[in-house]
Amino acid sequence: MLDGKILSANFVEQSQNLRRDKKIPCLAVILIGEDSASKVYVNNKIKIFKEAGFESKSFLISSDEAHEEKIIELIQTLNHDKQIDGILVQLPLPKGLNTEKILNSITLSKDVDGFLAHNLGSLATGEFKNAIACTPFGIMAMLFTYGIPLSGKNAVVVGRSNIVGKPMSLLLLSADATVTIAHSKTQNLKQLCQNADILIAAAGQPEFITSEYIKSGAVVIDVGIHRKSDGKLCGDVGFDVKNIAGALTPVPGGVGPMTIAMLMLNTALSAWNKNN
Ligand code: GUN
Repeated sequence: MLDGKILSANFVEQSQNLRRDKKIPCLAVILIGEDSASKVYVNNKIKIFKEAGFESKSFLISSDEAHEEKIIELIQTLNHDKQIDGILVQLPLPKGLNTEKILNSITLSKDVDGFLAHNLGSLATGEFKNAIACTPFGIMAMLFTYGIPLSGKNAVVVGRSNIVGKPMSLLLLSADATVTIAHSKTQNLKQLCQNADILIAAAGQPEFITSEYIKSGAVVIDVGIHRKSDGKLCGDVGFDVKNIAGALTPVPGGVGPMTIAMLMLNTALSAWNKNN
């Protein structure tokens, strides 16, 4: 088991050490709409920031009040606010809002999610100038820390979202893996996955990846988190995979804590750069 809970504590500590001149890094969190999973994620981020001694300011906007111009106006105010080091707009946004337009109104240096077109694009060119998307960044930190070799390995990323699949694929490519991106239209997904030395499961489907998809000894990273009808949490990967994988991230306690640790690191770096 690749323990994201223990590992993330190291990155939280490193983020705390980055603090200079007693300036406490501050993240603005914007939650739009009533998505219950998003509420849980946002509360968790705020809680963990508080525990680490970081500040956050939350802005809750109901679907009824969610007007594009108003949201962009709020973001522009936060862009100019010297107290704010990072701005996070929790995704997905309610239907009818233009996600790209809203995200791209965040100023580059405060894009701690790494979702802006420029920041995502800089992964493709290998510049790594600003923040790297937190979930893929956390997964790379985990793979490096556990000493998992990537060069020349077959990596299959299941999912092509801007949040996980695309940045994850670019990062694995920079680490010299041979990368395949699979998605809902991919044919022969099972055979593709069976060829993976590293499998990143970010399909958003509960327990979709079963042991038949896995090559013996493969490293399996489970990005999903779902609540089952019995109230228990599960990932995109079925429990039986642990018997065949060489390494696996648990749910909860795998990728989730790493994502938040990287958000903290990105916020601390943004504050550090601003004060230099
Ligand atoms: N929704 C799911 N994951 C994320 C994330 O890492 N950041 C934001 N802003 N929204 C998300």
